[in-house]
This record gives sequence, C-alpha cells and structure tokens, in this order.
Amino acid sequence: MEKILAPSILSADFTNLNQSIRAVELAGVKWLHCDVMDGHFVPNITFGPLVISSLRKITELHLDVHLMITDPDRYINDFARAGSDTITVHQEACIHLNRTINSIKELGKNAGVSINPATPVSTLFEIMEFVDLVLIMSVNPGFGGQKFIKSSLNKISELNKIRTEKNLKFQIEVDGGIDRTTIKECLNAGCDVFVAGNSVFNSDNITASAIELNNLIKT
Ligand code: DX5
Ligand code: ZN
Repeated sequence: MEKILAPSILSADFTNLNQSIRAVELAGVKWLHCDVMDGHFVPNITFGPLVISSLRKITELHLDVHLMITDPDRYINDFARAGSDTITVHQEACIHLNRTINSIKELGKNAGVSINPATPVSTLFEIMEFVDLVLIMSVNPGFGGQKFIKSSLNKISELNKIRTEKNLKFQIEVDGGIDRTTIKECLNAGCDVFVAGNSVFNSDNITASAIELNNLIKT
C-alpha cells in the first residue's frame, strides 16, 4: 500500500497558512491533516468547517480531517460540504458508529475511525470492514508536540495482522509524536499514513523536514 506523509497544520503558523501549505506542497506531500477540536472531547479548541473550506480554495492536497469532537453526526454534512476528502471520527465519540461511518460514505467521502491510546483495537472488530482508514492515536489527543506512546506500535502491528487475515483494504494511520525515529518504527509495524505536526511545521525548514520524513517512508 502507498505510504503517505500527512503534515498536521495544528503546528503551522496560523497567520500564514497559505505559506505553510506551499512549503509542504513543495516537498511533494499529498495529504494535509486537519485537527478539529471542540473543547469537550478534547481539552482544546481549534477550528471548524469554515477553515476547511478556506483551505479547499487554496490547495488540492487531500484534506484529511480528524474530528476530535463529541456527537460528530451533527457536523459531518458541514465538513463534507467544506471540501474534506477523508473524515475521521473517534470510536469513543460515536454511539452508533456504523451509522456515522455510513453517513460519511454516503456523502462521497473516505470514512475513517480513530481510537485513543487507552482504547483497544478489538473495539474496531465490527466496523473495520466498512471503513477506508483506521487512525491509531499515539498520544492522548488535544495538543501537538507530545511524546509518542510506545505501546501504539503493538496496536499498529495487531491491526495490520487482522487486516491481512480478513483480507481488508483500509489504510492504517498513526497520529502523535511522529519524528525521524518513530516514523520508521511505525512503518515497520505496518502503518501507511503518518501524521506529523511539530516535526514538520516547528522546524527551521518546513520543506526540508517534510522531504526528509517522506524519504524515510518511501525507502
Ligand atoms: C493531536 C493531533 C495531532 C497533532 C500531532 O491531538 O490529533 O494531529 O497535530 O502533533 P505532533 O506531530 O506534534 O505530535
Ligand atoms: Zn490529528
């Protein structure tokens, strides 16, 4: 499966998102990870569909929208219309997860499901055949720049093994604490999509950092 770097704009300069996006586009990146936080599901607030539709106007990158919000069903339509490509909801936030995933797919979008560090892979058993992507959180969601939780590697391997056994096609994504070292470890565990906030946008040279991380997953 293709290996994809998804820089997270959470760590970008919000006074000049346009320039930040050009910098990763220049590196040949294909995806942009957008962290939506509501101050309820996670202890932080970021942005909503308005920012997604503004980004849609200035880039053709695949917009990978990570909804860290309670009751995501209320907003899926808005995020789809804003121009998201992948919409990922949290297993912990969805009472009727199967219905939520179906609604995302009916809107013509890729549907993803995410689990927090303390949530086991087994909670996804009944939904994995219906999703396009599974996002393993390797930090407790809410903030950029946190330390990678090592046990996430076991979860990626476990998920990869089940995917092969069941002959399923979903992508495995990891999010949180991804740097030059952890990206390789996740790659070896069977990951396909690598979210990187701080290690791309908080570096001296955004383009060079994105190229370096991209090279690590392509080789
Ligand atoms: C964390 C967010 C991440 C965040 C990752 O709650 O979901 O996408 O941007 O940031 P880093 O790569 O700095 O850990
Ligand atoms: Zn994220």
